[in-house]
Amino acid sequence: MKVKRKTVIAGNWKMNKNKAETVELLKEMEAKISKSDIKVLLCLPYINLPIASETLESGAIELGAENCHWAAKGAFTGEVSRDMLLSYGIKHSIIGHSERRQYFGETDETVNRRSIACLENGITPIICVGENLEQREEGITKDLIKEQLIKGLASFTDEMISNTIIAYEPIWAIGTGKTATSEQAQEVCGFIRSLLADMFSADVADRVSILYGGSMNDANAEELLSMPDIDGGLIGGASLKADSFSTIVNIAKRRL
Ligand code: PGA
Repeated sequence: MKVKRKTVIAGNWKMNKNKAETVELLKEMEAKISKSDIKVLLCLPYINLPIASETLESGAIELGAENCHWAAKGAFTGEVSRDMLLSYGIKHSIIGHSERRQYFGETDETVNRRSIACLENGITPIICVGENLEQREEGITKDLIKEQLIKGLASFTDEMISNTIIAYEPIWAIGTGKTATSEQAQEVCGFIRSLLADMFSADVADRVSILYGGSMNDANAEELLSMPDIDGGLIGGASLKADSFSTIVNIAKRRL
């Protein structure tokens, strides 16, 4: 039986939509997605967040950022702080996405700093972990995930982890159309939950929402979301289409 945890369907739009396209897609999404007990979240580029919050009306979709700096303010050209996000009512942020790690030098240490800053200010971090193909083939997936979590969650309290969302995103499955099988995804998500039980407690671990990400779409969501330790999805490509994304949301609602 599934434990009652928050089901979260989060879109990650990455660097794809301009202002007009953002408004258009959000309106389409809002027409298809009704308010429910699951958390439906769209993480957008910073520049589109203000127009996005003006556009959304129904309360069925929440907004998140794709990253957040650890400092309150200062000389960090190109970065955005949690205070800035909060001033636009943004209460979620992806942290440590593999594209940030791969192209922009994000490390487990910076993931830790960013996440702590979010949590201290009431922003929910969605912390991403996951292995690349080489690491999977070498058989070191679990070692790597363990290291990412031990370093990424360093000095976290029970309360902090309870307010965190973890996303397992195998890099080889991101944007490739090559989804992890539901068994592969469950195996790692279950492993993450057992690690959290060791690091915190079984009770705490049972309450943390763990998402799968990597080519999740309207055709494979049903199976992935039926797995006991997969509490939702972090969705890139399929979150750029109102039909696919709303179908995934509807599948997730049935999971309740
Ligand atoms: P994808 O991206 O769904 O396009 O594979 C997922 C992600 O990067 O979060």
